[in-house]
Amino acid sequence: MNPSINLGIIGAGRIGRLHAANLCQRVPGAKVVMVTDALAASAESCAAQLGIPAHGTDYQAVLNRPDIQAVVICSPTDTHTGIIQAAAAAGKHVFCEKPIDVDLGRIDLAIAAVRKAGIVFQVGFNRRFDPNFQRVRTAVASGEIGTPHQVHIISRDPSPPPIEYVRVSGGIFLDMTIHDFDMAQFLVDSPIVEVFATGDVRVDPAIGEAGDLDTVVVLLKYANGATAVIENCRQAAYGYDQRVEVFGSAGAIRIDNNYPNNAILSTREWVRRDLPHHFFLTRYTESYIAEMQAFLEAIRHGRRSPVSGEDGRIPVVIAMAARRSLQTNRPVRLSEIG
Ligand SMILES: NC(=O)c1ccc[n+]([C@@H]2O[C@H](COP(=O)([O-])OP(=O)(O)OC[C@H]3O[C@@H](n4cnc5c(N)ncnc54)[C@H](O)[C@@H]3O)[C@@H](O)[C@H]2O)c1
Repeated sequence: MNPSINLGIIGAGRIGRLHAANLCQRVPGAKVVMVTDALAASAESCAAQLGIPAHGTDYQAVLNRPDIQAVVICSPTDTHTGIIQAAAAAGKHVFCEKPIDVDLGRIDLAIAAVRKAGIVFQVGFNRRFDPNFQRVRTAVASGEIGTPHQVHIISRDPSPPPIEYVRVSGGIFLDMTIHDFDMAQFLVDSPIVEVFATGDVRVDPAIGEAGDLDTVVVLLKYANGATAVIENCRQAAYGYDQRVEVFGSAGAIRIDNNYPNNAILSTREWVRRDLPHHFFLTRYTESYIAEMQAFLEAIRHGRRSPVSGEDGRIPVVIAMAARRSLQTNRPVRLSEIG
């Protein structure tokens, strides 16, 4: 039996509650002993729901507890790097939701603090742990499809987030495409070096008025000459659309959407099935559990986490290059960004 690891959750919103529930109920060897949220009622209701023994409003209370080995940061993005640095100084291992930050200077300070403290640090790019994406990665890494030439990632949401969210999200590339930038980097063993982005407002004019786009295409170039195309839209009529294909010299591998059931209904007129999973909470259930298991394993064995701070920095750089490409209508080298 693995020795249990005591954890504190910081931020009990949408994703914080999901991680807290998984850690309490579905990840053996994890013990959530405290949850904090800037809103007292959120921390309290999360603790009551899951039987977490302590709660509070100040994350420093988690860091002050000597019995807590690791923290899971699920507060808004603009709070991440401050909490990472404080947690590192307190010697706690850190799991931090994506993105680490939207500012490269602050990301570098956080990575330096993690290195200095020698703690395990993992960024929440959960899609890497999805069994389907993992199978694609294995096919590429093992050479089953030969040398990868082209990657195609389709990622569409069922509906746009509230406009207040859009206004502070940092823009579609940093908020939504960031997962796909990480996936593009995860699937192919060659650094991404150049980005061309285009897009428009096709779903809701209010998103345009907030200074953002809702429908984009991004072309990525890898150092080895391979390319990736990412297609995003904030609204797909049929639900959450998450598909990938990698085409290589010896074949291709493709994954389709995940469905709550695999029933196919056939009649005289047509063959049809129910809609795919509606959004990320149900589509990526297994990945959220697996990423936590990997975090705990890295702590137990003193290993580097499978999604390091350096891994978490790359998609932010790509997102910035995409934004500049859109503004200037030209391909942008990552070396221009930093
Ligand atoms: N990996 C994924 O699939 C995924 C999905 C959703 C969100 N996220 C990321 O998770 C983070 C949180 O997103 P969310 O959708 O859960 O947001 P949310 O607004 O639902 O929850 C954030 C919570 O943090 C609390 N909070 C604010 N400041 C705090 C502080 N200083 N200390 C403790 N709590 C504080 C808020 O009161 C709120 O309850 C963001 O960085 C987001 O990008 C990742």
